[in-house]
Amino acid sequence: MDRIRIVGGSKLNGTIPISGAKNAALPLMIAGLLTDETLILDNVPRLADVAQLQRILGNHGVDIMSAGKRPGDHEYQGQTLHISAANIIDTTAPYELVSKMRASFWVIAPLLARMHEAKVSLPGGCAIGTRPVDLLIMALEKLGAELTIDGGYVIAKAPGGLKGAEIDFAKVTVSGTHVALMAATLAKGTTVINNAACEPEIVDVADCLNKMGARISGAGTPTITIEGVAKLNGTRHTVLPDRIETGTYAMAVAMTGGDVQLSGARPELLQSALDVLVEAGATVTPNNDGIRISRNGVGIKPVNVSTAPFPGFPTDLQAQLMALMTTATGSSHITETIFENRFMHVQELARFGARIHLDGETATIDGTAKLRGAPVMATDLRASVSLVIAGLVAEGETMVNRIYHLDRGFERLEEKLSACGATIERISG
Ligand code: EPZ
Repeated sequence: MDRIRIVGGSKLNGTIPISGAKNAALPLMIAGLLTDETLILDNVPRLADVAQLQRILGNHGVDIMSAGKRPGDHEYQGQTLHISAANIIDTTAPYELVSKMRASFWVIAPLLARMHEAKVSLPGGCAIGTRPVDLLIMALEKLGAELTIDGGYVIAKAPGGLKGAEIDFAKVTVSGTHVALMAATLAKGTTVINNAACEPEIVDVADCLNKMGARISGAGTPTITIEGVAKLNGTRHTVLPDRIETGTYAMAVAMTGGDVQLSGARPELLQSALDVLVEAGATVTPNNDGIRISRNGVGIKPVNVSTAPFPGFPTDLQAQLMALMTTATGSSHITETIFENRFMHVQELARFGARIHLDGETATIDGTAKLRGAPVMATDLRASVSLVIAGLVAEGETMVNRIYHLDRGFERLEEKLSACGATIERISG
């Protein structure tokens, strides 16, 4: 199994190109099931989760063509996928495929909307919490589907097609909002989603669906209205930049010191995280090419942060912020409000000599002047990258094991960091 070896102590200086957002690319690919015409997606990141979803969609009969490189193209520009679901030959998403990636459960929405039936394996638990799908099921039932659970599968039917409805989410849910949005595009009549997630990835998917002929308004606000249409068409869409990758590298630069241009990043996608970085002592300068981040001469100041749905501080940057705070000049408090068990990195950060105390949903981090390199491993992808961030400043060698989590969500991580002066390499086998 591949590992990543880091020797800490180098400042980061240079340019890091930001890839397309994993959490937009996945639902956009799934949205390709809604039409029998070709959906072309540009700037799709080359990630293990994208490859896995290609296999899952392939199982339904979707043809996906990945366009080759053109002269002058750079690898970091992402790939272009041509997704054609002209013939859906199978409406079952089996356990073997769905269990590997939670977001693949979302195929239930377009299958039900277009084929009026779907049989999708329950995604099961995950290292960051119980992560149920009750709200997704509620939304589909509101739209008129009949759902039963049998043998670990959700069996969904809507013989006459889905019907528009009012959907009230008791809790803000990204997955629930994606599923309701996709299903409602082909439902008869009007759907209103209340307490919808406002994440930029929802807006990106809604923009693409509108280009496909859907009639969606209000995406990015808590109330989304969808007028159902009979059919959707193909289109071409560019995946928005990854705000979590952006925030991760911004935290890494704040951690090591130095000066890095995050090329292609969009500051409005992660303003709350940038505000926290400024509070922590980093200099953040939005410019025409993205965001420039630096920290020179000043120490890292402690912060108190709670995760929250967008536009709040993202749970997907919580582990990285915790790594940063391990070397702050005082005590920080980080409260996780989205996932009840997203603290698996705490024990691993302790291997570097970090001093973190957990009390329910809140971690207290007492900054220490020095971290020391250690062998570490993590159980989810954001936790894994927090260990990389710690390794970049830790004295001596850090070996990050089980890095397949990193490959699920960070494109060419070690190349991007070593180009900015980090001593980091992948060790195969
Ligand atoms: C998405 O997960 C992201 N995944 C996650 O990113 C991200 O952490 C999360 O949103 C929150 O921003 C993708 O976009 C592929 P939710 P999702 O539905 O949609 C509860 C990463 O590292 N809930 O917003 O699964 C749930 O348990 C990943 O890239 C229910 O109770 O998250 C959680 O506490 C990890 N019932 C809260 O809602 C349900 O039916 C928010 O979950 C659904 C969710």
